[in-house]
Amino acid sequence: MKNFNLAIDGPAGAGKSTIAKRLAKQLGFIYVDTGAMYRAMALYFLRNNIEASDSARIEAACKDVDITIEYKDGEQFVILNGENVNGLIRTEEVGNMASASSVNRTVRLKLVELQQNLAKKESVVMDGRDIGTYVLPNADLKIYLTASSSERARRRWNELKEKGVAADIEAIEQDIIDRDHRDMTREFAPLCQADDAVYLDSSDLTIDGVVDRILELYDEKASK
Ligand code: DC
Repeated sequence: MKNFNLAIDGPAGAGKSTIAKRLAKQLGFIYVDTGAMYRAMALYFLRNNIEASDSARIEAACKDVDITIEYKDGEQFVILNGENVNGLIRTEEVGNMASASSVNRTVRLKLVELQQNLAKKESVVMDGRDIGTYVLPNADLKIYLTASSSERARRRWNELKEKGVAADIEAIEQDIIDRDHRDMTREFAPLCQADDAVYLDSSDLTIDGVVDRILELYDEKASK
């Protein structure tokens, strides 16, 4: 059978990575977390004191940055100039820098090539912001997964609480709204629903509910 490409796009905190990981496991596909690649680039910019607005330095830095992806037991590892940075990229600071620096076309083109090459080689579940619209316009199944900003803030707040980190839920929601705005209004490859994507709102659905719905859609496509 030819490679099957499943694209999942949506705003921050909609549950994309949890759902995509589960789907990849159940389907035996590779999970490609494209946000992690933008986060690794962002970590490089932060470490080198390069501001997101400084496009000359961002573009020059793109030549020095080598990002590769490795897989071990189904888990994706992002390698930044030879260093595994998985444990360093999940902070709010890196997430915000990833959102701000990913407006840059040179940054995007560099990572899009890596993403397209992965999807050429293997069946993938790939999540991000522009997968169905730009990276894999011919994906076999496209999902636009979203949830209300208040529900996404509540989930993030719970995650932090479980880690013992105190946080202000209103500030989290405002951060989410700002990030959505930036990701949706950038000029090049903004976050939007592809015309042929299936819209799923996870606000009132469980993780299992969303996974089952996407597996049904997959079965319909795969049996054609
Ligand atoms: O999904 P995430 O929170 O790890 O993504 C971090 C940022 O990276 C997100 O706010 C915007 C950017 N991003 C992007 O522009 N395109 C993608 N395909 C994935 C992420």
